[in-house]
Amino acid sequence: MTVTLRQALCHDLDALFCLEQVAFTGDRFSRRQLWHLLYRAHALTLVAECRAPDSGPPRLLGYGTLLFRRGTRRARLYSFCVHPDARGIGLGRRLLEVLEVEAQARDAEVLGLEVRADNRVALGLYRRMGFRLERWLGDYYEDGCAGWQMAKLLLGEREAAPAREG
Ligand SMILES: CC(C)(COP(=O)(O)OP(=O)(O)OC[C@H]1O[C@@H](n2cnc3c(N)ncnc32)[C@H](O)[C@@H]1OP(=O)(O)O)[C@@H](O)C(=O)NCCC(=O)NCCS
Repeated sequence: MTVTLRQALCHDLDALFCLEQVAFTGDRFSRRQLWHLLYRAHALTLVAECRAPDSGPPRLLGYGTLLFRRGTRRARLYSFCVHPDARGIGLGRRLLEVLEVEAQARDAEVLGLEVRADNRVALGLYRRMGFRLERWLGDYYEDGCAGWQMAKLLLGEREAAPAREG
């Protein structure tokens, strides 16, 4: 199975909507919200797409959306999921790594996100990828669950390289 990552296009709307239904148990985006994200000037959505060897129609296995705001170098991971059939094989990590690169390419210095306090898998992934807990968000989700705001400093090669002497 070959999985490719690419920028979402308008024709992905139906598949994104279906993915949203199976990947999240609550707080799902409506079709209208997804449409807005796809057309929104300050958002970037990447999809993970799988093309089966029998060359059937490609299938969306995951997506992640970044939001950018004028006047700030902080990007926000607004939505991120992987289809239940494709979890645990590294796709979430791969998608997030590429989203970080895309955020950096758009001059973001920090990537922020919100995650449910009871989402053990996502919290673990974010922590291992270098996100730090920033703020507790009480009663944040539609079912009353609390969340964490997390953030990661995105350092480009230039900033990360040690200063050369002499
Ligand atoms: C969170 C989510 C995107 C992770 O996607 P994934 O493709 O399964 O993640 P990966 O396979 O890349 O695994 C990421 C890490 O989580 C661990 N992991 C994955 N599934 C796990 C499970 N069921 N139990 C424990 N650990 C698990 C992996 O071992 C891996 O660890 P590593 O970082 O040390 O390599 C996916 O579970 C999901 O879509 N969940 C529902 C939507 C959601 O919660 N989105 C996040 C909103 S903030």
